[in-house]
Amino acid sequence: MAKDKTIYTCTSCGGTNAKWLGKCPHCEEWNTLIEGIEEGGSSGKNRYSSAKSLAPASEVSVLSQIEAQDVDRTPTGIEELDRVLGGGIVPAGVVLIGGDPGIGKSTLLLQALDAVQRRGGHTLYVTGEESGAQVAMRARRLGLEQSGVSVLAETQLEKIIATLETQTPSIAVIDSIQTVYSEQLSSAPGSVSQVRECAAHLTRLAKTSGISIILVGHVTKEGALAGPRVLEHMVDTVLYFEGETHSSFRLVRAIKNRFGAVNEIGVFAMTEKGLKGVSNPSAIFLSQHSEPVPGSCVMVTLEGSRPLLVEIQALVDQSGPSPRRLSVGLDKDRLAMLLAVLHRHAGVACMDQDVFVNAVGGVRISEPAADLAVLLSIQSSLRGKALPKGFIAFGEIGLAGEVRPAPRGQERLKEAAKLGFSIAVIPKANAPKKKIEGLTVHAVERVDEAMNLVREALF
Ligand code: TYD
Ligand code: MG
Repeated sequence: MAKDKTIYTCTSCGGTNAKWLGKCPHCEEWNTLIEGIEEGGSSGKNRYSSAKSLAPASEVSVLSQIEAQDVDRTPTGIEELDRVLGGGIVPAGVVLIGGDPGIGKSTLLLQALDAVQRRGGHTLYVTGEESGAQVAMRARRLGLEQSGVSVLAETQLEKIIATLETQTPSIAVIDSIQTVYSEQLSSAPGSVSQVRECAAHLTRLAKTSGISIILVGHVTKEGALAGPRVLEHMVDTVLYFEGETHSSFRLVRAIKNRFGAVNEIGVFAMTEKGLKGVSNPSAIFLSQHSEPVPGSCVMVTLEGSRPLLVEIQALVDQSGPSPRRLSVGLDKDRLAMLLAVLHRHAGVACMDQDVFVNAVGGVRISEPAADLAVLLSIQSSLRGKALPKGFIAFGEIGLAGEVRPAPRGQERLKEAAKLGFSIAVIPKANAPKKKIEGLTVHAVERVDEAMNLVREALF
């Protein structure tokens, strides 16, 4: 069989070419050719027709007759990580873990490998970013100087695969996939074609050998996962690290999981000795004001299975000729929409004001249940009046000015009451049937109702 050679495939029409061209010769689209490897030297089309004639037809099964199997998992022993993984690492499973540089990916994975090794697993840490000595230094800092984890400092894919095949660890970490390159491709390490090709080879190896592989991926400065995003469909589980590097709290969120629930989160605190799980995290995203301040409203968000109390802050200020809308940790487009609803349906205008909103602690809130808290904090800042002590709110707001229910409202209210909150403004459909001890609940149907209630009764 001929040696594998580089080929360029058009992402638009699927046509192939032996050379890279700016314009696809088949469909005439620009900048669509990407580098790949042609196996066995035959073109895509011929490969298909020859495969058709060589392979016998496969048997198919009826769904009801296939025996469903529970996946068996190896818990890492790090509880918060196991929670996001859905109970542990699955044999032959491939996990992608992304996040900003310096957020703690290498730290967490070294701790996880050591924990698995201590429970009798065989683990391999492949480092492409640091030398073995640097990894050892980190291990010392984490108090893992006696660790039995094997370390390989290597970036060439072929050598990594050969080592994995001979060592056959139960779990291997590749830190990071952007540093790995294949000799077969001429493009630079870290380029999209290198990252994709290397990840595809490693995924195939995981499936054939039963080794669980964890790929580390960096997020670029712009916040896009240049490398990792293209890998999300290949892997079984995708985890992302969130949090501000200057605060010690870190969230690990599952955004795809073939073996467990998505949107589950693990909460950690970065300490002098690595990441420590925070088992009761509901109050960590509240800032400590001794007295209530204007522009602050606490909401209860439900991340995975646990409710979290998060403070939403708003600052509304006289603007120049073009008012600015800025949001950190919340959707920017949604902010513009909410301001329009606030104006049309509640008569609160911010047209000549800059509006800044922030979810405290670097947490990202994607659920619309934050809407009501965002608008109440904006109104509070605009009027310069603080919401009462012990106040919480949640609820989605629609374009018609209605306040829609949030999923699992009771759980949210109970958590707030448990943490000593005493007044809640919530959607009517979330109103509890039985009184919750210590909590006065105001249920509202419309956004103007919520704004008036807070303005007249509570300020
Ligand atoms: P690291 O795991 O290297 O991040 P990533 O692999 O995601 O780039 O984390 C490095 C940061 O964590 C660095 O700023 C130092 C800090 N750190 C601690 O605070 N405590 C520790 O025990 C360790 C090992 C790191
Ligand atoms: Mg690292």
